[in-house]
Amino acid sequence: MANPVAFELRDDVYRRPLETATKRLGIAAGWKCADIGAGGGDVSVALGRIVGSKGRVFAVDIDPRRRDQVAEIASRETQVIAITQAAEELVLPEKVDLAFCRFLLIQVLDPKVVIKRMAGVVKTGGWLVIQEAITSAGRIGQTPISALEAAMRHPDIGIMVPQMVKELGIEVTDCWAEAPVALGDSSESRYLEAMTGVLVADEPIMLPPIVTTIARILS
Ligand SMILES: C[S@@+](CC[C@H](N)C(=O)[O-])C[C@H]1O[C@@H](n2cnc3c(N)ncnc32)[C@H](O)[C@@H]1O
Repeated sequence: MANPVAFELRDDVYRRPLETATKRLGIAAGWKCADIGAGGGDVSVALGRIVGSKGRVFAVDIDPRRRDQVAEIASRETQVIAITQAAEELVLPEKVDLAFCRFLLIQVLDPKVVIKRMAGVVKTGGWLVIQEAITSAGRIGQTPISALEAAMRHPDIGIMVPQMVKELGIEVTDCWAEAPVALGDSSESRYLEAMTGVLVADEPIMLPPIVTTIARILS
């Protein structure tokens, strides 16, 4: 997903699932969070605004160019700290109340290794929140948006995550799916165009549903 327009629009079209997750979890001022595979830092900033000046967000990404983007944001959002690191080797300066990832496991070699590593940086009683897509469920009208699947290592990882978390001995407390749906000119149609080169003007679009998995770290 290298297209910068797609990056910008993705935050817009998937903002609602992020809000649902933060509200259901009840993230509060003062929480320490980690956003793994932070990309341009949109989720990190959203979390940073909730946790406020007494909280902290570690924005971790394997790509040093992303670090520069987040560092630019961090200069405005002082509680966001950018770190260049592979999720598979995740180590943070301190344990966090929440480890979060969105559209990360879809790309990594072994999602279970990353989930385990994320769980390892969470305090006892803290939370893991994972938002990943079911790419093959996207639709233009009644037709699957197959072009979206090609570039992903695990295009349908979203539906697998709750099971993977459970297999790691971690309690899943909630999981659900949400999909952006639109008709006509919209952020969704422009996002799809940026991703596939196809502009859909007169058919309904359902972008890939995102599955949110919430898990509690008890030890
Ligand atoms: C599709 S982007 C998602 C960005 C952001 N989470 C969002 O939802 O807007 C995936 C990000 O994960 C990063 N990434 C991929 N593999 C990674 C790994 N093994 N460890 C850490 N970050 C990784 C990429 O550099 C990229 O910035």
